[in-house]
Amino acid sequence: MAFGREKIEYKTAAQVAGMRRAGIVVADAHAAVRAALRPGATTADLDAVAARVIAEAGATPSFLGYHGYPAVLCVSVNEEIVHGIPGDRVLEPGDVVSVDCGAIVDGWHGDAAFTMVLPDADPADVALSEATEAALWAGIAALATGERLGGVGEAVEDVVEASGVRYGIVQEYVGHGIGSAMHQPPEVLNYRTREKGARLRAGLCVAVEPMLTRGKRHTRVLEDDWTVVTQDGSRAAHWEHTVAIGPEGVWVLTAHDGGAARLAELGVTVAPWLPEGSTPA
Ligand code: MF3
Ligand code: CO
Repeated sequence: MAFGREKIEYKTAAQVAGMRRAGIVVADAHAAVRAALRPGATTADLDAVAARVIAEAGATPSFLGYHGYPAVLCVSVNEEIVHGIPGDRVLEPGDVVSVDCGAIVDGWHGDAAFTMVLPDADPADVALSEATEAALWAGIAALATGERLGGVGEAVEDVVEASGVRYGIVQEYVGHGIGSAMHQPPEVLNYRTREKGARLRAGLCVAVEPMLTRGKRHTRVLEDDWTVVTQDGSRAAHWEHTVAIGPEGVWVLTAHDGGAARLAELGVTVAPWLPEGSTPA
């Protein structure tokens, strides 16, 4: 996914409103999957839950068939980072489970992921997931307050540094522009580079998705050609939201509250961007 300097698709308010509808479907699927996530469930059970929510909303799952991907969700457990394929694996107490879901409504995409650590959790795994989630929200806040996209990676690195734990920050997989396709330019890096990145302006919509590990950052892909695991076998977490930048600020399209609660903690006010005469979803 080397988007390089390809053209960015800047959205109108009406198009962002369409993306919000996709985002809500993804948020609903997340909620239903969370409720079903427990030891004894299989990863395929979770996939079925998400498939039902998306179908009942009249939406389309975006992962299914994407480059031949065989499921609605990616469910990545323990040392799996992303792109785990749901199947008959039975979840166990203490598992670190990352769930990634994408949906399409009227051609517009939403994409989001969360990690849940099952009961009997190792506190260090809970801390891993919390640090990754904090990195996500810091990255989103950087979209609200910054000038350039590179601020996301700086924010992620700052959160990791402040945690006092030497987490690995995955580099091979990155966030991305999103809109009429799931993956668009620009790339959204989770680490600092010399380039400041694209200028942040109204209509830019991106998926921010940091992935942290409890060990080294290096990855490898399993024989199934999908599942990405840590090379050192350390556990990983993945959090993601689809975010729209509007004229007044950011709007987290895949969060039911638009990101209001988590961003308030960071001193950022959410700014839904609505076409004239419409009301917030
Ligand atoms: N949601 C992933 C991402 O964040 C993509 C999933 S890959 C797929 O970019 F093949 F499962 F679709
Ligand atoms: Co994504």
